[in-house]
Amino acid sequence: MDNYEKILVLDFGGQYNQLIARRVRDLKVYAEIKPYTVCIDEIKAAGYKGIIFTGGPNSVYEQSSPRYSADILSLGIPVLGICYGAQLITFLEGGKVSSDAHAREYGKVTLEKTGGKLLENFPKHSDCWMSHGDYISCVPDGYTVTAVTADCPAAAMENSSKRVYAVQFHPEVLHTQYGNEIFKTFLFDICGCAGNWVMSDFVEKSVAKYKKELAGKKVLCALSGGVDSSVAAVMIHKAIGQNLTCVFVDHGLLRKDEGDMVEKIFRETFSMNLIRVNAQERFLGKLAGVSEPERKRKIIGEEFIRVFEEQAHKIGKVDYLVQGTIYPDVIESGTGDADVIKSHHNVGGLPEDIDFRGIVEPLRELFKDEVRAAGIEMGIPRDLVWRQPFPGPGLAIRVMGEITERKLSILRESDAIFREEIAKAGLDKSINQYFAVLTEGRSVGVMGDSRTYDSVLALRAVTTDDFMTVDWAKIPYDVLAAASNRITNEVKGVNRVVYDITTKPPATIEWE
Ligand code: XMP
Repeated sequence: MDNYEKILVLDFGGQYNQLIARRVRDLKVYAEIKPYTVCIDEIKAAGYKGIIFTGGPNSVYEQSSPRYSADILSLGIPVLGICYGAQLITFLEGGKVSSDAHAREYGKVTLEKTGGKLLENFPKHSDCWMSHGDYISCVPDGYTVTAVTADCPAAAMENSSKRVYAVQFHPEVLHTQYGNEIFKTFLFDICGCAGNWVMSDFVEKSVAKYKKELAGKKVLCALSGGVDSSVAAVMIHKAIGQNLTCVFVDHGLLRKDEGDMVEKIFRETFSMNLIRVNAQERFLGKLAGVSEPERKRKIIGEEFIRVFEEQAHKIGKVDYLVQGTIYPDVIESGTGDADVIKSHHNVGGLPEDIDFRGIVEPLRELFKDEVRAAGIEMGIPRDLVWRQPFPGPGLAIRVMGEITERKLSILRESDAIFREEIAKAGLDKSINQYFAVLTEGRSVGVMGDSRTYDSVLALRAVTTDDFMTVDWAKIPYDVLAAASNRITNEVKGVNRVVYDITTKPPATIEWE
């Protein structure tokens, strides 16, 4: 990333660290997130144009709270502290942070600007989003208060000669009316950024880089048809053409017609060197009699690697493997990882039995929306680029219990109908993930004059920003009715359709 102006987002464990980096990148300035444990020499060497301290759940006076040496404020690099970051600046500079219960604020609060550079584009009064227990009760020497709220005597402060700025509220959250103005002023007026992080430029530079680095090398890519592996493959293909071989393992757990669509796009549109392995029977064989979800995931992940290894052996010696790793996969959390609820070993880890020199990860620095923008830039069809997330183990975790070809076929048909109805209603862009689940339940129904005893099919549709917490989508009744009518009429084996109205948490998005 040496070609770009860079902002450091120093992570103190805040839940919005990625959001901050995305806001900065949306303004065409490259931002990278590092944990607060990164050493100061690394910061100095990286040539950052500015540093943003994130929020965090701690209280600055706690022994175990994440801190940083005050030297960081004297590097001559502008600093913006947000929430806990603002309190940390106060603490490091000799001011006072207090924690009276009456001064806690949570939610939308009216902010009154009293002056300053950072808030120069704010009106006198505006809404801001607060989420704090502690507050700055006495600003350090050299700092002036630039905004207040009813309960916060220093909702923002700054030391303009030192170029250190702090806000108690969260400018990265959309509820802060003029939040983006803070980032604009900080990045362009204070840090002097020009805004050179543009996707077309990134694609062009990456392709040129890989053309040079991978010249004459044999490269192999496992293509799943998902957004990340597709964009990664196309980028490397642009750089090295037929020296890239893509292996697409069709495990038989894809949605209706999906395998053919992937093959068509990559073989015909991009003229890629593509090997499609039809391994449906092999996967179904391994999964026979297995009903425990984590076991299914493990079998599919492992089998995927075995199939991939076999293909690689047929191809002969390869130098590099392409992986569609994206930025959220590589960000180290400031304060440790959350619990693993499901083992998301996608299409499963790294093969052990292939001799290769290294891994190429062309999307390592990109957020998902940037991956999509890069895909569009390179001419990948919109339908693929905006494809909803689809789990590596595929329909195996949407057929409850044991998997059979018959159950898969019922699910595929029902799922296709649901997707068609959602698209027909124009809801496909606003609902983040939607699919059908074949439950293990059976119910009694009546069809014509006869009694049926068939499967219960569930529809699931969710809206979310991050897939960590989700709401169930409030789909209009007539759309649900159309899907339900069509499924019970057109799919043999389903006589009842239910709609899942559970948020995450407590439920997860997938049923298994
Ligand atoms: P959950 O069900 O944990 O899903 O709320 C969150 C997101 O992750 C996807 N998901 C998976 N993706 N391998 C994957 O590659 C998996 O085993 C897996 N399980 C869930 C899910 O579709 C949702 O987008």
